[in-house]
Amino acid sequence: MCGIVGYIGTQAAAPIILDGLAKLEYRGYDSTGMAVFDGNKINITKAPGRLKVLEELTHGGESMPGHVGVGHTRWATHGVPNMTNAHPHFNKEGTIAVVHNGIIENYLKLRHMLEEKEYQFVSETDTEVVVQLLDYYYRGNPLEAITKVLHRVEGSYGLGVIFADHPDQLFAVRKDSPLIVGQNETGCFIASDVPAILKYTRKVYYVENQEIVRLRQDHMHFYTEDEEEITKEAVYIDWDSNAAEKAGYEHFMLKEMYEQPKTVADTLLPRLKGNDIDIEELHMSNEELEAVKKIHIVACGSAYHTGVTGKYVIEGLARIPVEVDLASEFRYRNPILEEGAMVVVISQSGETADTLAALRESKKRGFKVLGIVNVVGSSIAREADNVMYTWAGPEIAVATTKAYSAQLIALYLLAMKMAQAKKTISGEEFGAMIEDLKKIPDQIELLLGNKEKIQRFANRYIGAKDIFFIGRGIDYSISLEGSLKLKEISYIHSEAYAAGELKHGTISLIEEGTLVAAVATQPALYAKTISNMIEVKARGAFLLAVTNEGNNEIEKAADYVIYIPKTNDYFTNSLAIIPLQLFGYYVAVGKGCDVDKPRNLAKSVTVE
Ligand code: M6R
Repeated sequence: MCGIVGYIGTQAAAPIILDGLAKLEYRGYDSTGMAVFDGNKINITKAPGRLKVLEELTHGGESMPGHVGVGHTRWATHGVPNMTNAHPHFNKEGTIAVVHNGIIENYLKLRHMLEEKEYQFVSETDTEVVVQLLDYYYRGNPLEAITKVLHRVEGSYGLGVIFADHPDQLFAVRKDSPLIVGQNETGCFIASDVPAILKYTRKVYYVENQEIVRLRQDHMHFYTEDEEEITKEAVYIDWDSNAAEKAGYEHFMLKEMYEQPKTVADTLLPRLKGNDIDIEELHMSNEELEAVKKIHIVACGSAYHTGVTGKYVIEGLARIPVEVDLASEFRYRNPILEEGAMVVVISQSGETADTLAALRESKKRGFKVLGIVNVVGSSIAREADNVMYTWAGPEIAVATTKAYSAQLIALYLLAMKMAQAKKTISGEEFGAMIEDLKKIPDQIELLLGNKEKIQRFANRYIGAKDIFFIGRGIDYSISLEGSLKLKEISYIHSEAYAAGELKHGTISLIEEGTLVAAVATQPALYAKTISNMIEVKARGAFLLAVTNEGNNEIEKAADYVIYIPKTNDYFTNSLAIIPLQLFGYYVAVGKGCDVDKPRNLAKSVTVE
């Protein structure tokens, strides 16, 4: 989603801003822009399309000299992605420039109010009201104007603002849209995400809701929206910056798929204590776990899919009812949360607006929230009562792979811990499951080794119009993710269906040669899934099956079979998803798609 970078200091601002924006490219965007004060006036350059266009237009920033500036990559919400709608936005005189992430919800009302006062708007964006309102309130004191604007705007915002009258200052403002500030010996930085400034500084401050930061070359001051000064603690970021490089892989997605054995091990092993599981971060005793009567899992996209798997695993192992909700639905459906319920939100980025809102809604109702989160220090990580981190490291490709795999492990551990507390599984079963968990990293490695075979198969489907995924139980949740992986990066229409549901409508979409991928990893459901496979085959489908080693019976129905190594039935998702990720990836590569940055998509969805 949109990215913000700003700099004030002794160095040229434009190259630093361009460099920072490049680090945020993976988040998805469709236009770019930059504003730099050159000593006399603010110069602005904007362009639709990729960042390289802005780099070319500004000769790598050289044609925009100056030591203070802000830059932006925009993911269009209000208005098409063109030059006018791109950020920065500016007032009529060009003396104030603003970049904005988020949505100003009452922008129409504010726009009408300003138009009545003879303000003329040039763009279709919600952001432009911020700069016009700043102009309206500005009487020479930037901080005062900003606080007045904050009292008028509703919605979410991360803002970077410069004033031509005050070129020694850069402002950062935040509400419900991530924003950090940082400092090094040359100056101060603002950014919507850590990787943008990691090259320059590891000392950062997380800006909280309704806070304003005034950055100068050598220091920064933090204020509340009522202009009261506050103090903040710096956080030292110790990420490995190499993790954000491609390391010789053609795409981040491929690199991240290959990192899965490690991310699974990193999420799993520190929580295994001999033959036991210790999830320290839960801060819940066995008695408290035993008292949990119901679990609500809330998430979006792939994280929702891991939640669907989690439902089968937790209900199966611990016999606790689990409801899984899409966060965008949960937040507005007035959910029934009863005494004894536990809310689990899952998010790779920790910044997904709907998931964050669901977390807040649950806390407002007095329920404790466990966050399963990948990004340390993200909004969800900071606001959840307890956080179980997935140690997947920075995930750059828009299509999640390694964070998804790490989330599955976190859910298995939670399910087993619950089952242990509830005494719904025997010590023997528990021990055998631990042994199976430990094998997963090597088994994933083995499956990744099959990539050429899957690539050859995928090449046959580059021209496909529709591809379907079917499965029952856990296999249905695997199908959901397999289908999403394919469609989000290859733009081939795909749907996932519970195999038993096909004949209630979807089967009419099957034509001669349509590829149907059947996931069959649950022995108790083999026979049922095979009959659904035969039904689609009879209507012309070409059948790919993903099943367990030893289930050779399936070859009688399937046209092409991929076997996964033996594991506990509850853990099959971790293995079956690997060939499906590779399949989606190679179809997209074969079609020449921009695999890491699929059109219209953003890595972290910070607007609802
Ligand atoms: O950062 P989150 O895990 O909260 O993101 C949720 C979804 O936006 C994300 O999983 C999305 O569906 C990915 N594009 C899937 O590959």
